[in-house]
Amino acid sequence: MQPDGIVRRRTNAAKSRAAERERGDKIRTQVVIVGAGPAGLLLGRLLENHGVETVILERRSAAYVLGRVRAGVLEQGTVELLERAGVARRLHEDGLVHEGVELRFDGERHRVDFRALAGRTVTVYGQTEVTHDLMDARAASGTATVYEAEQVSLHDFDGASPTVRYVKDGVGHEIVCDFIAGCDGFHGVSRAGVPAAALQTFERVYPFGWLGLMVEKPPFSDELIYANHERGFALCSMRSPHRSRYYVQVPLDERLEDWSDARFWDELRRRLDGETAQRLLTGPALEKSIAPLRSFVAEPMRFGRLFLAGDAAHIVPPTGAKGLNLAMGDVGLLAAGLAEFYEERSEAGIDAYSSRALARVWAAERFSWWMTSLLHRLPDADGFTRRIQRAEFDQLRWSQAAARALAENYTGAFGR
Ligand code: APR
Ligand code: PHB
Repeated sequence: MQPDGIVRRRTNAAKSRAAERERGDKIRTQVVIVGAGPAGLLLGRLLENHGVETVILERRSAAYVLGRVRAGVLEQGTVELLERAGVARRLHEDGLVHEGVELRFDGERHRVDFRALAGRTVTVYGQTEVTHDLMDARAASGTATVYEAEQVSLHDFDGASPTVRYVKDGVGHEIVCDFIAGCDGFHGVSRAGVPAAALQTFERVYPFGWLGLMVEKPPFSDELIYANHERGFALCSMRSPHRSRYYVQVPLDERLEDWSDARFWDELRRRLDGETAQRLLTGPALEKSIAPLRSFVAEPMRFGRLFLAGDAAHIVPPTGAKGLNLAMGDVGLLAAGLAEFYEERSEAGIDAYSSRALARVWAAERFSWWMTSLLHRLPDADGFTRRIQRAEFDQLRWSQAAARALAENYTGAFGR
């Protein structure tokens, strides 16, 4: 009996297919999932709970995947999905429920009260932990994940019997399946394998990046702080009551080696007001990195028997904390559609997947673009732009409607 009470047994057919995989034979499964990030792992878990057999192919090692530092601000809908997947025990033990967030503009503060305005909360729980929980659950159920799968290639997904080829330890393999789920992120092979004529893409690349630092020190605030300062954007976040995560906006051509810990802390203090800066607890960086910001959407998210989900289909700037939530939302829709196909032989869910997913994607793209435009020092900004940003901030303070719109979007009220 698994922790979540769901009993799973590997059928003899599944055992023989696993043996075929070992021999490098041409094997068969129902759904091949490319990518073992949060999207791929959650999809595998949800499908398994419906008795749908999957194989996950992941380019990297499990340790490499777990080594990635990614944000984790979970909407209620995402928490509910992880509960349904039976992987929310640690999330409820260690996750931090937040009822609001603080915005700052040149030192002035305004708290947006999620519970009062939208009747919802968010949960701070690192994406790495979500991935860990999903990996553990998959390993416990004995379902197949091939790590360090090389040369993954997709074939015949415009027909009824797509195939996926890969190389593992020098041995070539081919899997015949019913469907392929491309959960292999922005730089994966799934979207790249779609004929250009079948795909329409939309993109904005922002003229700045985020320099992030992780430190084993308690956060000085119970909630997240997003600050628009004349020197640039800053974000004060956290991973736990003992581990904090901070960001400062930097020019795109900035080099990480030019940023000592001391320089980072000094710059962050300058972007916070005096009282806060004094409460800031600093220490040696556990991790430090610079990430670019981009808005990107590929339409549609389905090509015959190939479906794209998560970062493979869309990217949002991290300002709205939407990346993980969008990926989880895609997977919830796709898993329901595929389960309906196998259980009811209905294609209604998979036929509606792309349009339903894209409605949520564009709502999150708009919100993430708006938060990014509101909170960053735009390099080419003239006085007009700066005053519009100030007016947006002031409107949040005097208009409940404006504050409610932010609370609803940040907590994922849209489309749930
Ligand atoms: N073959 C197999 N696996 C691949 C390939 C490939 N050719 N290319 C990429 N992958 C793997 C990556 O190694 C990664 O583990 O696909 C996985 C994609 O995971 P993510 O990039 O985390 O994307 P996703 O699961 O959609 O999660 C989205 O991650 O990047 C953040 O902000 C984003 O929070 C969001 C979340
Ligand atoms: C983070 O904790 O890394 C984080 C939080 C909120 C964001 C972006 C990143 O909007």
